Amino acid sequence: MSGVAPEASAVPAVECRELRKAFGGRPVLRGVSLRIREGETYTILGGSGSGKSVCLKHMIGLLRPDSGQVFVFGQEVSRLSERELVEVRKGFGMVFQGAALFDSLNVRENIAYPLREHWRADEDEIRRRVAECLEGVGLAGIEELLPSELSGGMRKRVGVARAIALQPRIILYDEPTTGLDPANSRRIGGLIRDLQRRLQVTSVVVTHDMPLCQDISDRVALLRGGRFVLEVGAEELRDLDHPELREFLEGSSDPTAPASHPGEEAGAAP
Ligand SMILES: Nc1ncnc2c1ncn2[C@@H]1O[C@H](COP(=O)(O)OP(=O)(O)OP(=O)(O)O)[C@@H](O)[C@H]1O
Ligand SMILES: [Mg+2]
Repeated sequence: MSGVAPEASAVPAVECRELRKAFGGRPVLRGVSLRIREGETYTILGGSGSGKSVCLKHMIGLLRPDSGQVFVFGQEVSRLSERELVEVRKGFGMVFQGAALFDSLNVRENIAYPLREHWRADEDEIRRRVAECLEGVGLAGIEELLPSELSGGMRKRVGVARAIALQPRIILYDEPTTGLDPANSRRIGGLIRDLQRRLQVTSVVVTHDMPLCQDISDRVALLRGGRFVLEVGAEELRDLDHPELREFLEGSSDPTAPASHPGEEAGAAP
């Protein structure tokens, strides 16, 4: 918990207004609105296929909405050209679902990749930054290893090291603990909290991992049927009796179907 003051007037780190997105005529986002405060950890829950990754990709401009708007620190990114987006993306770190490391590059070159692309620095500086990032995720000294030589947990942590290399203000984590054992999941959770505290980053986390969610979140939202049907403080989550949350936890409903309890839509704008 960061203890971020809920200042209504502050410019949100990320704001989505009524995002709609369909693929091949099939709607995935049907009016997603959210405001993520600077410095908070905001967790998005939702069943498989509900549009969580699609939602994150809109925040970083990898996808454009059919309608609606995305703002990052007040700047409307959903209107920017590809060239302007490059600048915005420098402020983001993204931990992709499945780590997405380049198999043919060693750990150093994987982490150095965004640095070489976006940072004018000499080889010594790059090496130093890579070493710092690895140390930050508890993996000092593994620069020479190839991704195939790493365990799943190590790959995820290298993915995090790459995401923090450019010292971003916002980090997006797409299912950072999927496939990890409880000890490694806790380690990733500790890392997310630690980065938030040390670097004051804003974190947006997509996960199915409820212990992780409880551990790291300031606020939690549930995506269902292309909209947020719930948005609460993490401390309220434990005792909450909410039909769609229950259905998500029990896996007893289709996460892509429109909400069956339209009266309970949270609207998600705090
Ligand atoms: N680039 C794309 N082109 C076409 N369809 C897409 C694209 N990206 C996502 N989709 C579709 O949008 C829907 C939501 O996908 P998304 O990846 O956001 O799900 P998710 O909530 O992240 O699920 P999971 O928990 O399995 O990762 C899926 O039906 C998917 O097939
Ligand atoms: Mg996904």
